[in-house]
Amino acid sequence: MILDVKSLTKTFEKNNTVFTAVDNVNFQLDKKECLGIVGESGSGKSTIAKMLVKLLEPDNGEINFLGKDLVTLNKSELRKTRKDIQMIFQNPMDSFNPRKKLKTSVGAGLKYTLSLNKKQIEEKVDEAFNLVGLKSEYKDRYINKLSGGECQRAAIARSVIIEPKLLICDEITSALDVSVQAQIIDLLVQLREKMDMSYIFITHDLTLARYLCDRILVMYKGNEVESGNVKDIFENPMHPYTKLLLSSIMTIDNIYEKKNINYEKLEHFGGCKFKDMCPNRMEICNSCNPEIRELENRKVRCHMYNK
Ligand SMILES: Nc1ncnc2c1ncn2[C@@H]1O[C@H](COP(=O)(O)OP(=O)(O)OP(=O)(O)O)[C@@H](O)[C@H]1O
Ligand SMILES: [Mg+2]
Repeated sequence: MILDVKSLTKTFEKNNTVFTAVDNVNFQLDKKECLGIVGESGSGKSTIAKMLVKLLEPDNGEINFLGKDLVTLNKSELRKTRKDIQMIFQNPMDSFNPRKKLKTSVGAGLKYTLSLNKKQIEEKVDEAFNLVGLKSEYKDRYINKLSGGECQRAAIARSVIIEPKLLICDEITSALDVSVQAQIIDLLVQLREKMDMSYIFITHDLTLARYLCDRILVMYKGNEVESGNVKDIFENPMHPYTKLLLSSIMTIDNIYEKKNINYEKLEHFGGCKFKDMCPNRMEICNSCNPEIRELENRKVRCHMYNK
């Protein structure tokens, strides 16, 4: 196991009230495994990712990465492990310095992590460009001369060049045209074969998650509501929310529109967070948010399975 996240919790303040964006989430990740985190906008996916790369501090919980808890690690130890977890975002252009040539940006991480001379750095940059399918003449270009898909390739190159152990991809294809999306997904599939990395793939797109991931974690309002391997989740979803997501008539982004419900306004005043949307609502759902329960091949947070 490379990652073991326990009771991860993050609260934010919104309109003078505290709300829990990530609520006691637990998950694990094995070496070379790809975990898909799915769930609608605002369910806490990016907040989880940001805590993993220390862009946000958790309020509570542990992030055990290769046996060390990143939450309590001191600064110098953290610096050593930081290169091992890389994250790519939806809009990679924002994270590149527009005044630097791509080869400088892509090779930047090497300076701090390995003691390589200039020539060796250049060779590594060449390898990385090749690996992500960017022509080597792009090395002297600037980020604003690249298309969306090329930008994303450059961002992937910049991350994988330092050979991280975990790559977190947060909606990295959602801003791209469908055909370009497919190319980036193909690239990730190739990287999975070539490199010894684990992946966390955050997406709204269940089809992509199914194609790419080994396991799926379904988030709803900060809670993990169901997790299991891809086959089980897609062939036999158990949580009513997962069933809803997978039902052919609704996609992850339009379930509320269809029901004319404002997700943000679905406030949680006790009971199950999903109860207002749930076709299987029972009496107990009104008063008590179910604990997550481990079944044979799955974890599910639903009273239907708490008998
Ligand atoms: N820095 C912050 N300050 C206050 N609230 C925040 C902050 N970051 C996120 N939130 C809130 O936390 C909740 C979870 O946000 P998060 O970005 O993790 O959702 P998400 O699942 O990644 O959504 P999306 O699919 O739209 O990217 C949202 O209600 C969001 O408004
Ligand atoms: Mg997000």
